Amino acid sequence: MQTTTITTINKTLAALLMLVPIAGLAFAGMVYFESERRLASVVPGPDFVAIDRDDAGFVERGRHIARTRGCFGCHGQNLEGQVFDEEWDWVERAVAPNLAAYAKRHDAATIEAAVRQGIGHDGRALWSMPSYNYALLTDEDVSAVIAFLKSAPVVDKALPKPRLGWQARFRLFRGQAQHMADWADAMPPLILDARHPLARGEYLAKTTCNECHGFDLRGQVDIDLTMPDLAVLEAYTDEDFLRLMAKGEAMGGRDDLRLMTMVARDRFAYFTEQELDDLLAYLRTLPGQPVDYDAAWRKLR
Ligand code: HEC
Ligand code: HEC
Repeated sequence: MQTTTITTINKTLAALLMLVPIAGLAFAGMVYFESERRLASVVPGPDFVAIDRDDAGFVERGRHIARTRGCFGCHGQNLEGQVFDEEWDWVERAVAPNLAAYAKRHDAATIEAAVRQGIGHDGRALWSMPSYNYALLTDEDVSAVIAFLKSAPVVDKALPKPRLGWQARFRLFRGQAQHMADWADAMPPLILDARHPLARGEYLAKTTCNECHGFDLRGQVDIDLTMPDLAVLEAYTDEDFLRLMAKGEAMGGRDDLRLMTMVARDRFAYFTEQELDDLLAYLRTLPGQPVDYDAAWRKLR
């Protein structure tokens, strides 16, 4: 009698224990398929028709945009591609492809979809490439970037396959993280009319600084970094600002900046004088404007 009870209890326990891995697997499957579904369900915009120019001036314009917008920093100084595994461990392994080789293989519309819409050549959403930062690039500027990429010599480099880890998939599954096609869609349009004297500065700021300082430049909290509201520039003199852009040093020569120093040296040191003037003139208008703390994108990360 007693042994039968123990056997029954054992059997029930064993059955329950069996359920644990099964439930675990079912849950992992759900996370996997839902994250895949989200990456695949993107709606591309109308097919882009690039401005068909490949003269030296246009290609040079494209190189300048690529330099100041950070394509080299992530895709390699020879556009040869780069692997991110330790820096961005939440995605597990992001691989920025060899852009010169990519541009030889793909047409302008495919490149435009990746750059401005966050949609890759396979029709799926990108997850590490900051396309939202380029969503507002003009047709002319994105065409110039494409002309430059197509003209760039290919430097070969062996690259591993990218891997989207469970942490990233779980965040996508919970709706906690957005992929780049969602982010690019969420980017609000420019506020100023193109003829406004500050329009060039707004355009520069919102295709450059908005990668990290928030879509409206008013600050963003990332996973382990806080990017300040750019109204902090109120305290900067012209000289302070120029030193920040050229060398990545904060006001008064403070050298406690990290990511900001890297991007300044790699990107902003290449801005022209005119661009720096335009940028500062626009950024100086920020302190007088209200901040929408509830903006949907501010909570996305
Ligand atoms: C912060 C790093 C970063 C910056 C800056 C960046 N990229 Fe990328 N890019 C990536 C990564 C990583 C990928 C791989 C796809 C992914 O994981 O999102 C990628 C993918 C791409 C792709 C291929 C998309 C596909 O799979 O079909 C193109 C084209 C591209 N980038 C162009 C550019 C251009 C042009 C610039 C500059 C205007 C740029 N990228 C700036 C990181 C970056
Ligand atoms: C790739 C991300 C990134 C981009 C792009 C970026 N920043 Fe930053 N910035 C940061 C981070 C992160 C900090 C906080 C300090 C740090 O960790 O470097 C920062 C800090 C700053 C500060 C505060 C310095 C201080 O006094 O403490 C200013 C001002 C600033 N950025 C201006 C800009 C401007 C202007 C642009 C566009 C031209 C820009 N940033 C683009 C990441 C970025």
